[in-house]
Amino acid sequence: MTVLSPIQSVAAVAPTSAPAPTTPAADSSSHTLSRHAARTRGPGLSAHLRARIARDFHARLHDEWGGRFVTHGRTPGSDAVRLDGNDYLAVTGHPRIVQAQIDSLAHMSLWEGVRASGATAHPFRHNDPGHLARMIARHGPGLVVVDSVYSTTGALCPLVDVVDIAQAHDCMILVDESHSLGTHGPQGRGLCAQLGLTDRVHFITASLAKAFAGRAGFFTMPDELRYYLMCHSYPSIFSSSLLPHEVAGLAATLEVLRASDAARERLRQHTVRVRARLAQLGYPIAQGSEQIIALEAGTEVDTLALREALESRGIFGAIFVAPATARNRAMVRLTLHAALTDAELGHLEQVAAEIAPQVRPWAWPSARRQRPLSTSSA
Ligand SMILES: Cc1ncc(COP(=O)(O)O)c(C=O)c1O
Repeated sequence: MTVLSPIQSVAAVAPTSAPAPTTPAADSSSHTLSRHAARTRGPGLSAHLRARIARDFHARLHDEWGGRFVTHGRTPGSDAVRLDGNDYLAVTGHPRIVQAQIDSLAHMSLWEGVRASGATAHPFRHNDPGHLARMIARHGPGLVVVDSVYSTTGALCPLVDVVDIAQAHDCMILVDESHSLGTHGPQGRGLCAQLGLTDRVHFITASLAKAFAGRAGFFTMPDELRYYLMCHSYPSIFSSSLLPHEVAGLAATLEVLRASDAARERLRQHTVRVRARLAQLGYPIAQGSEQIIALEAGTEVDTLALREALESRGIFGAIFVAPATARNRAMVRLTLHAALTDAELGHLEQVAAEIAPQVRPWAWPSARRQRPLSTSSA
């Protein structure tokens, strides 16, 4: 959001003949700001703003600071004594915080979080608690990161086993509940609540752009981390906050969702029904069990053909291709909801049957992957 303050408003109408400054802030040569602007891309500053910089800043920069920035000095070396942060308990770089073990299908936003934190990610096989245990044994304890319901396949995380393993190995755990908040658990409180795990999970994150149909998100954390995070997390320092009407909308949605047991039950019944019928028709959907159903045709060409076959018969899903998926694991994602009518579900099932001989789901690479594998270790 852009707010024009009175000063900026004046700047917008200030005469262009305002005095020109002499030296650009970050340039110790004698170029003027206008020449500096001519050398750089993008719009130049207004004359008023230039005058203001010259008046309020240049004397400080040149006369008092000798042309150097007072706030930016040398780059500290590795042997420097650092007394410049707010990390009072010196937990930055703590191995338990920077090491992360992460499910290989965890949502991209979680991978971005790992990258932004500078942590080392050690992926473990999707929904394979045994492999998680072996990776922890190999790499040491860290933060285990999983989705409760995986956003592309609709697979449910074996959360009790994962939490048991995390706890037994002294790991912290983060669960992204974006696709289970509102749909799972008592009053829609999510999978951790449903399984009685809330007090054993360190961090729960959730997008409120799913069942909440809003545009926000939240995370929970242990009490003792609260103030540290408020000081150190860029989004909490630099992002704008929600507006009162957005909070009011989300609060009202929360009340509606809490009281939506009947809709949750309908969604469950739809899920069971559609999944059973699609599986019977030969669609390889056994990797998931929840309201998200992935029709993973594989290549983008095959996915286009599948999309066209569905859309020309009035069925519209969401298309996922690389980089949202691995290359050649493209899919049409069908997301069920509680308001689907019996006629609509019947139409979906009828179309799925009609196009099956054409799109041949039993021949998709995802179908081959679902056939029993010979045992492997590692
Ligand atoms: C599992 C999961 N986590 C997080 C997000 C990010 O949500 P948002 O778009 O609200 O940032 C998504 C959205 O696709 C998601 O599926």
